[in-house]
Amino acid sequence: MLWDLVVLLVFGGIVGWVIWYWYRASKEVVSQVEVSNPGGERGTALLVYHPGRRGFLHSVVQAFAGSLVSGGWRVEITTASHQAPTDLLGYDLLVLGGPTYFWTPVRPIRAYVRGLGDLEGEPTVTIVTGFGSTGRSKSILEALVQEANGKLVNSLTFFKLRPNDEEDPRPNREVAMEMATRAGAAISVSHD
Ligand SMILES: Cc1cc2nc3c(=O)[nH]c(=O)nc-3n(C[C@H](O)[C@H](O)[C@H](O)COP(=O)(O)O)c2cc1C
Repeated sequence: MLWDLVVLLVFGGIVGWVIWYWYRASKEVVSQVEVSNPGGERGTALLVYHPGRRGFLHSVVQAFAGSLVSGGWRVEITTASHQAPTDLLGYDLLVLGGPTYFWTPVRPIRAYVRGLGDLEGEPTVTIVTGFGSTGRSKSILEALVQEANGKLVNSLTFFKLRPNDEEDPRPNREVAMEMATRAGAAISVSHD
């Protein structure tokens, strides 16, 4: 009887903690739009992301953004909130990032995409992160972009626990940063 109670309390505590963490991690984060390389002549990229709780998604998005800046882009970056820009006139590239919770991209990034309306062929990159099971989450974000008439130019996934590159012995996070940097450098958009 006592053991039943102990098991119930431990199990309930774990479930409660997961729900609490998920609730906190899914709350909209409002931030200013930060501009990097204002004179960038390659075009203007808008990066909208939902930061995770422990910084992995944030670091990956910053690596991607840094690479765009090095490649001559003007970069505007902000978090997915009701204050993030929704008028995409003047942006040559849209980058959307969000962590995966329960096989789904976090709510604020989904809400942001749904609030954009018709993307009118806007070149778009999606970035999802997760421990290692992100296939469904990646597909959901891709589908949201395509349903909104966005032009998906790349869809990236980075893992926190599963190796990002089986062949690379360096710490997984380091590998993810380098892959994000390479992906940013490889972005090329056509204006058709
Ligand atoms: C409640 C909860 C559910 C999660 N569900 C998944 C999942 O379904 N698939 C997955 O790959 N990662 C999952 N993760 C891991 C997060 O996606 C990962 O922590 C996040 O992408 C990046 O972490 P950070 O930015 O908070 O450091 C989950 C994490 C938590 C806390």
